[in-house]
Amino acid sequence: MIVVFGSSNLDQVGTVSRLPEPGETVAGGTFSMAPGGKGANQALAACRAGANVRHVSAVGDDAFADMALELLVAGGVDLTEVRKAHAATGIAMIFVDADGENVIAILPGANGTVSPEDAERTLGTLTGADTILVQQEVPQAATRRALEIAREKGARSVLNTAPFLPDTPDLAPLADIVVANETEFALLSGRPIDELDAAMDEWVRKTGRTIVVTLGPDGARAVSPEGKVSVPAHKVTPVDTVGAGDTFCGYLAASLDAGLDLERSMRRAAVAGSLACLNPGAQPAIPLARDVDALI
Ligand code: RIB
Ligand code: NA
Repeated sequence: MIVVFGSSNLDQVGTVSRLPEPGETVAGGTFSMAPGGKGANQALAACRAGANVRHVSAVGDDAFADMALELLVAGGVDLTEVRKAHAATGIAMIFVDADGENVIAILPGANGTVSPEDAERTLGTLTGADTILVQQEVPQAATRRALEIAREKGARSVLNTAPFLPDTPDLAPLADIVVANETEFALLSGRPIDELDAAMDEWVRKTGRTIVVTLGPDGARAVSPEGKVSVPAHKVTPVDTVGAGDTFCGYLAASLDAGLDLERSMRRAAVAGSLACLNPGAQPAIPLARDVDALI
């Protein structure tokens, strides 16, 4: 089983011809709402990849809570550990321009109440056969506790470093596998993007963990104590890249959990992440396993 410990948001998406500058008004475009949040997106991606998934999260006591969980319910994700907090449901305000470029502001609401006690209450049943997947849209103390419990229980743990936080370098070695984009990895390693390969080697030597760096249209690269892996992306003309990284993480965790090796898991994850760029929004754009596997 995969447990995704993290955020749930309702995404409020404005599609505009170009992104407004600070202080500027851009008129025209379309508005839509869709379930999102890095935790929930990754839970749905793992589920669409074929895994048995439980989501541990918190939503608000407002009208947005049910909307935020709609696609997880439809997908059959176990939501028994999604707590209702006396707060607003997490909201992400997203603008996407005609080229698919985006800006995002996150109002965490209930996600900000996720605590180390939530980790203790919900993760006691993890076993060595399970995988836990965490991101950084809930308080880091809670994520830290989740990773510690995973280690105590012998479960495989995967940390996605998005969005990057000041304490991420300290937290990351608690996970077995860390997934970062190039910018996040530069912050994690303290070395510039053009030293990526050397920085990955150095980080693995220091931590003994596995690092996976996603490279957008160039696929993904990993260094583990056992060696190196490089996989291509699937070539697409992106409509909206929101959710691509989450799709990658969910597919990676689901594939590892199903017993695939790192290279085959990354191959699936990279293709799934590419396909997620073909449709607007995060969760609605997550591809189904049969469409991903047909391209491998
Ligand atoms: O990674 C994409 C997600 O980031 C969106 O769904 C939004 O909720 C933000 O958290
Ligand atoms: Na998308």
